Amino acid sequence: MRSSPSLPCGLLAVAMLAAGCSRVADTAYTLRADTEKLDLPAKHQAEVAEYLTMFHGTPSNPRMALPDASAEPTTAAVAKGSVVAPIPRIDKPGYDRITLQLGHDVYTRQCAGCHGATGDGKGPAGAFLNPPPRDYRNGVFKFTSTPRGSKPSRDDLRRILKYGAKGTSMPAFRFLADEDTEAVIDYVQVLASRGQLEIDLIREATDELIEDEDFDPETVAEYVQGISDSWDRADSELVRPLTVNPPRTPDTIQQGASAFAELSCVKCHGPNARGSKSADVGQDIWGRTAYPANLAMGMLHGGRRPVDIYRRIYSGINGTPMPSSKDPNTAIGETPELRSDRIWHLVHFITAVIDNNGVPDDAQQAIDDMLRHHAPPATKEPAAESAPELPGADDEKKAAGLGQGDRSVVWRRQSERSEWSDRSVSRRAPP
Ligand code: HEC
Ligand code: HEC
Repeated sequence: MRSSPSLPCGLLAVAMLAAGCSRVADTAYTLRADTEKLDLPAKHQAEVAEYLTMFHGTPSNPRMALPDASAEPTTAAVAKGSVVAPIPRIDKPGYDRITLQLGHDVYTRQCAGCHGATGDGKGPAGAFLNPPPRDYRNGVFKFTSTPRGSKPSRDDLRRILKYGAKGTSMPAFRFLADEDTEAVIDYVQVLASRGQLEIDLIREATDELIEDEDFDPETVAEYVQGISDSWDRADSELVRPLTVNPPRTPDTIQQGASAFAELSCVKCHGPNARGSKSADVGQDIWGRTAYPANLAMGMLHGGRRPVDIYRRIYSGINGTPMPSSKDPNTAIGETPELRSDRIWHLVHFITAVIDNNGVPDDAQQAIDDMLRHHAPPATKEPAAESAPELPGADDEKKAAGLGQGDRSVVWRRQSERSEWSDRSVSRRAPP
């Protein structure tokens, strides 16, 4: 089983109480440089801290600020006790501070016990949970209706709040008033944006600045704007299936089963779709071993509607080795229309597996035939994005938070991957 979900609620409550309950100190957000003991010059640490507060405030006074491009660059003297010159800024339209405070209050009551006050996933109860609560600080979310690499839409965040993530301890918050739901979504976006800015600035300091050099305020402003733009884009990037979902028939299920074997799905999910515990598919970007889902369990974390499964196959799962349909290793279909049809067939296969609590006999036959007659495609190397080197952070931490282009982490075990994938197939090959 991929995930051993929640502790019983009572136990969880005891764990949270024992660990100091979900109320977390409000005065300041913790900094990566401290918690991860990064080897960053003190000067840069102080500047990063000040920029983060400038744009995202403090827990008791959170902000979603943007650089104000229309304002004159400030000539004001650096304020007393300040280490950077202020950048002119405005509150992002739609993110007023009263709502953000409400969001913070809801978050502190309902979420911080698991997700931590900064969104690092290390709330007092987090340590007991598998999978652990999401660390939002790199701005990566798994279950989106947007293409791989994109932010979630607002609807995606609403959906996860309303329904939770089935098969994990992420609860459904159906009882939250709409106002509270919207406010806490804003606040999660503040935490995610703040965390991503922190990563950008740490990288900038590490890669571009010499020890006593200051950050260039214009560069900082560009980072802030870039993060904000990526969130704004998400709402218009919805993945819409190109072709309509055909009726599910034994034939479409068979075709889906063949595709499941012909494409790389079996390499990770196994010929019986139950996920293979022994398949080493590498880590996710949060530094944990990734386990291909057991599809027969039906615990689809990203939703069970056909269109949810479609989007999961089309986009893959951010931050994990689950590839997108455009990945050279999956390459579902030669034209966009063929890809769309094939994805629907895969959806039919997967829903049939769920309904049947396992691969139906006919479909298993189709998989076994395909594996006998077709050598699986050789593993291709997607364009590598290199993982940033961070000073003093050990590898696991780098993988956990700072491998932004998830491929760098996901694919770095390329050699091991092709080895196990070959093995899994030869086990099935005819004598
Ligand atoms: C009991 C612990 C727990 C509580 C309380 C909790 N979460 Fe979660 N949350 C989780 C876990 C575990 C996951 C990871 C699920 C996974 O990896 O599939 C998660 C994932 C998420 C995600 C990521 C979804 C994605 O697509 O990656 C969001 C957003 C989220 N939680 C928001 C919230 C908010 C907002 C609250 C409070 C209103 C909250 N959570 C309360 C445990 C919790
Ligand atoms: C490189 C390994 C790999 C390959 C190839 C792969 N998957 Fe996955 N898949 C994963 C992993 C890992 C997860 C679990 C991700 C997570 O939630 O942490 C997953 C999860 C899933 C899920 C569950 C989604 C949810 O909502 O929880 C589905 C459905 C799925 N894969 C279908 C497919 C299909 C169809 C293919 C072939 C086109 C495929 N996978 C190929 C690794 C892979």
